[in-house]
Amino acid sequence: MTARPSSPPNGKKWKVAVLGATGAVGQTFIRLLTDHPWFELAEVAASERSASKKYRDAARWLEGLLPEDVAEMEVRSCNASDISAPIVFSALDASVAGEIEQAFARAGKFVLSNAKNFRMDPDVPLVIPEVNADHLGLIERQRRQRGWDGAIITNANCAATVAAVALAPLHERFGVEKLFMTTMQAVSGAGYPGVASLDILGNVIPYIADEEPKVEREMRKLLGTFENGGVTNAPFEVSAQTNRVAVEHGHTICIAASFNERPTPEQALETLRAWKGAESTWSLPSRPESPLVVTDSADRPQPRRDVNAGDGMTVTVGRVRDDSILDLRMVALGHNTIRGAAGGSVLNAELLAATGKLPPA
Ligand SMILES: NC(=O)c1ccc[n+]([C@@H]2O[C@H](COP(=O)([O-])OP(=O)(O)OC[C@H]3O[C@@H](n4cnc5c(N)ncnc54)[C@H](OP(=O)(O)O)[C@@H]3O)[C@@H](O)[C@H]2O)c1
Repeated sequence: MTARPSSPPNGKKWKVAVLGATGAVGQTFIRLLTDHPWFELAEVAASERSASKKYRDAARWLEGLLPEDVAEMEVRSCNASDISAPIVFSALDASVAGEIEQAFARAGKFVLSNAKNFRMDPDVPLVIPEVNADHLGLIERQRRQRGWDGAIITNANCAATVAAVALAPLHERFGVEKLFMTTMQAVSGAGYPGVASLDILGNVIPYIADEEPKVEREMRKLLGTFENGGVTNAPFEVSAQTNRVAVEHGHTICIAASFNERPTPEQALETLRAWKGAESTWSLPSRPESPLVVTDSADRPQPRRDVNAGDGMTVTVGRVRDDSILDLRMVALGHNTIRGAAGGSVLNAELLAATGKLPPA
């Protein structure tokens, strides 16, 4: 793996802001951006309920220590004119992300979005850098079509992200033909305060609003190909069943798939183990040593034991075996607020920086 540069590509850190900074994903952004080698967290913003308060009074900090400098920041409102940073990480609720993110892109900002609103637009990149870095090519088309100087770059639904990393190596080599996925998704995926404790403790909820269609359509775009200035969705059929379980962090996904060319479990394991992801990501600061690891333990991956692999950026796959109806089955696990949200967004921004797509710092 290429050595990671500790200083930014042009020698100066980019100032960045976080929108929706008080929520579960917003807080993860703050943790990941504190002491980031290329980005400096300059501003935090949230709803009018939080605006003008000190961050420590507006947010109920969920994990670890709240960095003192962030605690003292004044929370801004999500108006593009109130934010000076050229790069904006958005952890906004989908009910408001649409209008706000567009306004920021129109004002010339690069918006790294976690919301569902623009993911499937044909001129908006839906990116997992190791899987489909070339989809960033859509930015030019987006700017031309929408007539704005900024850009919206999205990362995928957290469950789709985990499944796409696990399947990318197999899709590249054998071509996914049919896909069944059953998810067991952590409570932090529902944000804060999220699901009421009496609904989820000792329980499984076999429904997450709007999640199944999101996972199904995003999988095809994520594993699609960038050609002639657009993304052609991968042609496989996909069926997803999504469940909320009493786990704090980490989405576990049982996957069964058939392929254009049937791999043996040994071939699948060898392919998964050899995969390094797009070379353009190898030296990015948030890129884990291995975006995908395979466990040999019969009873893993497990959220408690594996969710923090690669500081939350590594997807762990196990139980790769023949399937009695389709070709192959396996279990994948990844951290929903890190790989599936804030960490994925930060990696997208690093890729933009490393490929010269960001405005000067
Ligand atoms: N949690 C995950 O694992 C995950 C994974 C992938 C993607 N996502 C997506 O990421 C986004 C954030 O999710 P989350 O789980 O962090 O949600 P959350 O905990 O509910 O946080 C929502 C954030 O949006 C802000 N907000 C709400 N209404 C607003 C308004 N009218 N104007 C400005 N800001 C407003 C809130 O600010 P206040 O505190 O001021 O209300 C808060 O900072 C969502 O789009 C979600 O679908 C989440």
